Amino acid sequence: MATFPSTQCFRAHSSFPPSTASSSLSSSSSCLHGQFHRIAVSSIPKRFTAARVSLQSQSVSHDNLVGAQDGAVATMVTPIENETPFKKLKDGLRSITSSEELKDATEFDVNENESTVSITVVGASGDLAKKKIFPALFALYYEGFLPKHFTVYGYARSKMTDAELRNMVSKTLTCRIDKRENCGEKMEEFLKRCFYHSGQYDTQENFADLDKKLKEREAGRASNRLFYLSIPPNIFIDAVRCASLSASSGNGWTRVIVEKPFGRDSESSAALTKALKQYLGEHQIFRIDHYLGKELVENLSVLRFSNLIFEPLWSRQYIRNVQLIFSEDFGTEGRGGYFDNYGIIRDIMQNHLLQILALFAMETPVSLDAEDIRNEKVKVLRSMRPLQLEDVVVGQYKSHTKGGISYPAYTDDKTVPKDSLTPTFAAAALFIDNARWDGVPFLMKAGKALHNKSAEIRVQFRHVPGNLYNRNFGTDLDRATNELVIRVQPDEAIYLKINNKVPGLGMRLDRSNLNLHYAARYSKEIPDAYERLLLDAIEGERRLFIRSDELDAAWALFTPLLKELEEKKIIPEYYPYGSRGPVGAHYLAARYKVRWGDVGVDQ
Ligand code: BG6
Repeated sequence: MATFPSTQCFRAHSSFPPSTASSSLSSSSSCLHGQFHRIAVSSIPKRFTAARVSLQSQSVSHDNLVGAQDGAVATMVTPIENETPFKKLKDGLRSITSSEELKDATEFDVNENESTVSITVVGASGDLAKKKIFPALFALYYEGFLPKHFTVYGYARSKMTDAELRNMVSKTLTCRIDKRENCGEKMEEFLKRCFYHSGQYDTQENFADLDKKLKEREAGRASNRLFYLSIPPNIFIDAVRCASLSASSGNGWTRVIVEKPFGRDSESSAALTKALKQYLGEHQIFRIDHYLGKELVENLSVLRFSNLIFEPLWSRQYIRNVQLIFSEDFGTEGRGGYFDNYGIIRDIMQNHLLQILALFAMETPVSLDAEDIRNEKVKVLRSMRPLQLEDVVVGQYKSHTKGGISYPAYTDDKTVPKDSLTPTFAAAALFIDNARWDGVPFLMKAGKALHNKSAEIRVQFRHVPGNLYNRNFGTDLDRATNELVIRVQPDEAIYLKINNKVPGLGMRLDRSNLNLHYAARYSKEIPDAYERLLLDAIEGERRLFIRSDELDAAWALFTPLLKELEEKKIIPEYYPYGSRGPVGAHYLAARYKVRWGDVGVDQ
């Protein structure tokens, strides 16, 4: 068993999280005494190395001060700002659950300098690849998060040279606003590591050819391979079969990232999982939900579990309702073909909003380990009532002319059938039948072609019993309750609405916000969700990916409703493009004595 020299051992421990850090900092000797298996230290992801050095040296650089913007606490915190949670240091090994993973980690981590990671983007010429995946890989490269030896391969059917791929990719790469230094140079370097391979998605020989090319670049090093399937669902399985049989790594890990849709209902999702598992182990499948990679969604657990003031309030006793709101100010133009087969409930609610709900409502996990978190999320999902038709409102946008500009109806899209009933808007009331949330409505609202683009979580608290100041609010008690708003995007913020005395000799109250506005507080640009998720997949961190039982539980909630909507051919409520959506959403909320928080002047 390999061991590290004691100095290295000490350094790794000196950046452990407070709970672990207190013991490891104060008793680094335990480390000095111990014989550590090499992997325990080397499996700490690279992005903690920076934090380690900064914390150890405790020097307050000018950069730190600028980045943190204020206060002594901030200067201490800055070194780990925008890094991943502490847990990685603590639980590095615990997330390695299977012998396959242990092998993966050994290959990758122990010989980090000698191993390679090849990332193959299958469906390289698609929109997602161009707009999100390649730019995210470049951002990771720029930040120094990619391993020393890495290669990016674009795989698609069209004929293209490496130079053409690089040219295509270069058009969508951007530099961070706060980090332009050497950006051009870095782009050049990154593009040199990008290659193209043309092949069919269902032809093993084409993947075998890719395998040969990968091997050449791996140059005999331990090889780790990540495939990102950015292709339509009907060719998932073929691509997985070919990649797995003909281009798996022989001496490192092979992982596959799959994007939704993961089926259309419980049956098709189960069939997809079964087919995937013919070729891959669950530990190799990374089901992405990019909302889990968003900064404020990631922050939900931090907010709740590391602040004393929130967790005690987090239950039916103090929370009246929770609202999960998604809106886009554009329609499905150009994506009608895909969208018409899925609709807004499958596209947004069953995954993005439900995932946020599960994270929001879960019990405290045993640890921050991926399996502990996912276990708690599954429990929440399994405690929920399947959706009932009467608790759902569906809508579809119709054309609208405003300021001389005509906006199209959903069915004006040539790829959408004229008589389509597919919802582009839905609102729903969901319930979690457990001790913590019994009777609390969780309201979801998601729509396309609405008046704004936003995603937020709103927590409305109960009224203050016997509030002495009730008369200052007249009879509108809704105005007097506290509301916590977590604005996921755009313009990230967390704010708490409180009642406050308007300064002056009288006694007039108003609603004010205690506001954590990210742009004002943090000078760093917030990384795109795909950056975090790609990095996690490379590092084998599964916390933000969907496990198959989570997926089953999510579909079990929505499948009966989706079937009923389709069988009964429920006609959506039409709403004008650019409006706030169907009025039915308000009636639905009113049934549960809820007022949508995003409506009105005081948002
Ligand atoms: C995708 C949906 O998952 O998320 C799209 O398929 C939607 O319809 C998109 O537009 C929204 O993502 P974001 O990150 O732009 O809010």
